[in-house]
Amino acid sequence: MLRKLIYDPTEELPSDLIVAMFNVYKIYQSEKIEHVALRGISLAIHKSELVGCIGPSGSGKTTLLKILGGLMLPTAGTVYWEPLKSSVSGFTASQLADVRNEFLGYLSQNPFLLPQLSVLKNVMFAGLINEKIKNGRKLKRYALELLERVGLEDRAKSSPTKLSGGEIQRVALASALINRPLIVLADEPTGNLDFDTSGAFLDLLEEINKTLGTAFFIVTHSPQVAKRTPRILELSDGMLIGHHTLANLHALDHSRILVPDAQNRIFLPDELMKTLGSPWGFSVNVTKEKLVLNSVASAEDLASSSDLTVKEITCQLCGHGNTSGNRFCQNCGSFLSRFRLFAEE
Ligand SMILES: Nc1ncnc2c1ncn2[C@@H]1O[C@H](COP(=O)(O)OP(=O)(O)OP(=O)(O)O)[C@@H](O)[C@H]1O
Ligand SMILES: [Mg+2]
Repeated sequence: MLRKLIYDPTEELPSDLIVAMFNVYKIYQSEKIEHVALRGISLAIHKSELVGCIGPSGSGKTTLLKILGGLMLPTAGTVYWEPLKSSVSGFTASQLADVRNEFLGYLSQNPFLLPQLSVLKNVMFAGLINEKIKNGRKLKRYALELLERVGLEDRAKSSPTKLSGGEIQRVALASALINRPLIVLADEPTGNLDFDTSGAFLDLLEEINKTLGTAFFIVTHSPQVAKRTPRILELSDGMLIGHHTLANLHALDHSRILVPDAQNRIFLPDELMKTLGSPWGFSVNVTKEKLVLNSVASAEDLASSSDLTVKEITCQLCGHGNTSGNRFCQNCGSFLSRFRLFAEE
């Protein structure tokens, strides 16, 4: 069953919500420029959900994951964590690190294992720094159990330097699970693996999701990964432009569901706008079940779709009156970003 994607922080939140964000923006600031990496993202992940997130390079996937995991603060907006029963704002970095360690695991595309420790000790490591875990023997037993789950129990004493890429990723998964997290955030977890190794790794994620009930939020470029997650969020240029159930990543238009964001905005994907041929805008027709947007191609078109007609469009730059219906001023060539429509007298 698919769950709600957006909760307003003022409404009562469900008890099985693990992490959520509401209207999150992230602006990276360097010396001279500002880059808006996330523009008003809202999402929610519940216990035992398996959620994917796709988007082209630079669309903001890693930024989204880091903010959800509290590794980076948003410029604006709210991030909710279940153990806090509140937003992460107001907590210090070290308080957040302690809470994160207990309920959230992180899996990166290039996991780093400590070469001086054995595979087993690498898995135990995040448990050793968890103050709530006092019993070293129990921890070791659980680390061995996890290594068995990921099929590497016979490598427990090996050095991580002797492992293949797929094996390193499986040890990193065991390590991400050592504190029995409610959720694992995974950033391109199969990005460096070949097709078959990726397939085996995804089987493992699915099995862990089913047997341990761990939720996964996986950001990826890979259709192979996205095929496995019942819900897929689609990110483009820092905005969630849609979500999919059973997506065919080669024909996203067929499975895309456009979801209004926290400000009731719906983003129209580039492909759709291309098909519509740069419309001036849309006339809107609403019935109880349908919202029909009729593309209008020119100012005249727009006027005729309502009771209004174009008398004059005044260029904001040179003041020239334009009646051609063209989007560019006939006099100075500037873009007619604003146009005026007058009711027929
Ligand atoms: N530290 C930073 N400073 C400035 N801009 C940044 C920084 N980190 C990321 N960006 C910019 O923010 C945008 C989103 O970056 P992000 O790494 O989240 O994208 P991504 O979807 O994970 O990309 P990829 O698929 O290549 O990993 C990009 O345009 C990137 O250049
Ligand atoms: Mg990334």
